[in-house]
Amino acid sequence: MQGRGLVSIAVLLLSAAPVLAAVPGDGERLAATCAGCHGTRGAAPGSHIPVIGGQGAAYLKKTLTEYRDGTRPGGVMANLSKGYSDKQIGEISDVVASWKWQNTPLAATPKGKKLSVSTAACAACHGKKGEGTVLAPHINGQAPEYLKEALLEYKNGTRNAPAMALLKGMSDADIDSLVKNYTRK
Ligand code: HEC
Ligand code: HEC
Repeated sequence: MQGRGLVSIAVLLLSAAPVLAAVPGDGERLAATCAGCHGTRGAAPGSHIPVIGGQGAAYLKKTLTEYRDGTRPGGVMANLSKGYSDKQIGEISDVVASWKWQNTPLAATPKGKKLSVSTAACAACHGKKGEGTVLAPHINGQAPEYLKEALLEYKNGTRNAPAMALLKGMSDADIDSLVKNYTRK
């Protein structure tokens, strides 16, 4: 009697196990595929490939959704995101956001170089050093080519965000100066 009792407890535990165990999401598996372009744990090795590891989760979710829905121009990212559900985008973003931010080794500007345009306005949203806040993404330490492209997209209106409307009035020289500020060694 006792033996049968133990067996049935064991059977009960075994059949309950899959329910009790945390059900892993797709995030880790899907985020592993980003390394092919964005580098190990999102620490971008390319001049036109942004750092994504350690970026804010809310910004990553918004961005991947915009690529998928065609509201942000994105080439390969547009194609890639089409395959993801909202749930998968959320899971991927949480995993990528949990990685540590690493500045690109492609940063170019010598420390301390004087700039022609103030970054005080940028700091209000992006943080004192461009490290990102709940309001705006981490921008310091991206490759200069990527940053310039992003700023030109806001200036030209191919990428739209009300918060970045201040770029519309800027000259190309101002933009180059801003890029230098956020790509210091
Ligand atoms: C085939 C190469 C490739 C792969 C694979 C790839 N990306 Fe990208 N990704 C890019 C390029 C190129 C850009 C820059 C596009 C642009 O300028 O809008 C980019 C941009 C992004 C951005 C915008 C960053 C920002 O600062 O606004 C995010 C977020 C992003 N990728 C996330 C991911 C995630 C998450 C994965 C894996 C699920 C991934 N990417 C896989 C090439 C790739
Ligand atoms: C009112 C708040 C605000 C101000 C001021 C502001 N930004 Fe932004 N910035 C944002 C937000 C929000 C986003 C994300 C917009 C989106 O989803 O495309 C952003 C996006 C960006 C991006 C794109 C990041 C990426 O990874 O692609 C860059 C670069 C940037 N800002 C630089 C600047 C600079 C330089 C200044 C100062 C001249 C500035 N911003 C001022 C809020 C702000």
